[in-house]
Amino acid sequence: EVPALKTHFAGKFRIGMAADPSGYQDPIAQPLILKHANSITAENAFKPASLATAPGVYNWATADALVAFATANNLVVRGHTLVWHQQTPDWFFNGTAADIRARLEAYITDVVTHFKGKLTCWDVVNECTSDDGSAVYRNSRWYQTLGPQYIEIALRAARAADPNVKLFINDYSTEDPAKFARLMTLVSELQARGVPLDGIGHQLHVSTGTPTPANVDNALRGVAAKGLINHVTELDVSLYDDPGSCFASKAGCLADLTGDPVALAAALKKQALQYRALFNVFLQHPSLQSVTTWGIADNHTWLTGFPINRGNRPLLFDAAGAAKPAARAITDDA
Ligand code: XIL
Repeated sequence: EVPALKTHFAGKFRIGMAADPSGYQDPIAQPLILKHANSITAENAFKPASLATAPGVYNWATADALVAFATANNLVVRGHTLVWHQQTPDWFFNGTAADIRARLEAYITDVVTHFKGKLTCWDVVNECTSDDGSAVYRNSRWYQTLGPQYIEIALRAARAADPNVKLFINDYSTEDPAKFARLMTLVSELQARGVPLDGIGHQLHVSTGTPTPANVDNALRGVAAKGLINHVTELDVSLYDDPGSCFASKAGCLADLTGDPVALAAALKKQALQYRALFNVFLQHPSLQSVTTWGIADNHTWLTGFPINRGNRPLLFDAAGAAKPAARAITDDA
């Protein structure tokens, strides 16, 4: 068995895991989160589609249950997420720009106020950076209706509702130097305008083959140079080194390997080396305060449905809850 991760990395960064109540109540997952984690992120329960049934009408039950579980078990809670282009009801975008802005501000005020004092941070805006070099900002419905200032509106509303909760922008592929440079442009524009922002969340949905440690180091270093906190928010290491076309169009996604014992063993070995390389970079960065895996154990991971349906085993613990080579690789001092 491996030592409790939260103890092993104490004084460096918190260890978090993502789960909804159905996830942390799972008999395999629950002992793992209680042993290893001191932070939790709701996998879905804090998203607009989960919280907001209609404008100004909320269903807090599932999210409140998660906060109660966290409080009872000494886990801090990362709020994820207020403003995103996915899992957001269509009615947010009805009416004029003024209507949409007012609805966004009311939503953030209501939700941040509801959880005031109960969360350490919010991923206020999720995935706002463009994936291609022709633009800095993602061309999302928020961007199309409110322009780039939707980010500023959201951050200011969050700060006004709770001056103590830390405010994050969270994004994926920050380990891609070109995308990271666009994110830093966006951050510079916010900072030049005096917009409140405390940290950057690096999702780090990576694979056994990419990124290189240097690419992750580049992103963590760049954020610290802006005077911001780093969090790793959604770490998992897919067994598949898919080409970029797999994510853009599901073309060329690699075939399911989980029925092939030889290929699977090789991939799990590569995965352990990738986890070790990543944690070795993490340990070099005092600005990195939290590392969360997007799930608890391999019996439940979003990657069995993304970008295509296939087996995957991206986490530190296997489907039966046992420590994988990856968990040993990050705790062995060898
Ligand atoms: C995913 C959840 O894990 C799934 O259960 C859900 O169906 C879709 O969203 N980036 C994010 C997360 O910021 O919120 C996403 O979570 C995974 C990618």
